[in-house]
Amino acid sequence: MKNKTQPTSKELVMQETDIIVSKTDTKGRLTYGNEKFIEFSGFAEADLLGQQHNIVRHPDMPRGIFKFLWDNISQGKELFAYVKNMSKDGSFYWVMANVTPDYDASGKIVGYFSVRRAVSRSAIQTIDNLYRQMLEAEKQAGARDACDASLNLLTQILQEKGMTYEQFILSV
Ligand SMILES: Cc1cc2nc3c(=O)[nH]c(=O)nc-3n(C[C@H](O)[C@H](O)[C@H](O)COP(=O)(O)O)c2cc1C
Repeated sequence: MKNKTQPTSKELVMQETDIIVSKTDTKGRLTYGNEKFIEFSGFAEADLLGQQHNIVRHPDMPRGIFKFLWDNISQGKELFAYVKNMSKDGSFYWVMANVTPDYDASGKIVGYFSVRRAVSRSAIQTIDNLYRQMLEAEKQAGARDACDASLNLLTQILQEKGMTYEQFILSV
């Protein structure tokens, strides 16, 4: 189920002590959300569990970021990412997510975890600006080539900075 709500300009701000946690199965369906996750999402727990995690997707997020996320975690690599999410009523909230695979005893990936913390105002400004450029590149490229276009742009920007993705993310 996708959140079809129109986004609004109302922001929900995470406190520094807030931690938003969710877990999914291997297909990205929600299997758990902590109280903060439920609070920020605006949905009832029963409306979240079993749904695709894109239920909190904000249309301002470049698709390339999610492709990058899935490419990494499905290969067993953790990933840090700034994400703008949308609540049920259209409000938005920024998070810094650390997404990690969850393994069973035999070493098989059985799902994923995301632990999210608050983002500083200056980091939001930097990332919002980056994502706007990525989104624009996606619009110009069209749906089929959108992810390639925005990820190429991201690679180019990182090269100019002389930083890896993770160095950049942890530096903003
Ligand atoms: C553990 C985990 C946490 C995720 N958290 C979010 C999130 O907070 N917001 C979001 O939009 N997508 C999140 N995703 C990515 C979604 O599964 C999905 O790829 C994304 O919302 C794009 O969906 P779409 O391609 O259907 O538009 C998460 C995925 C995993 C595995």
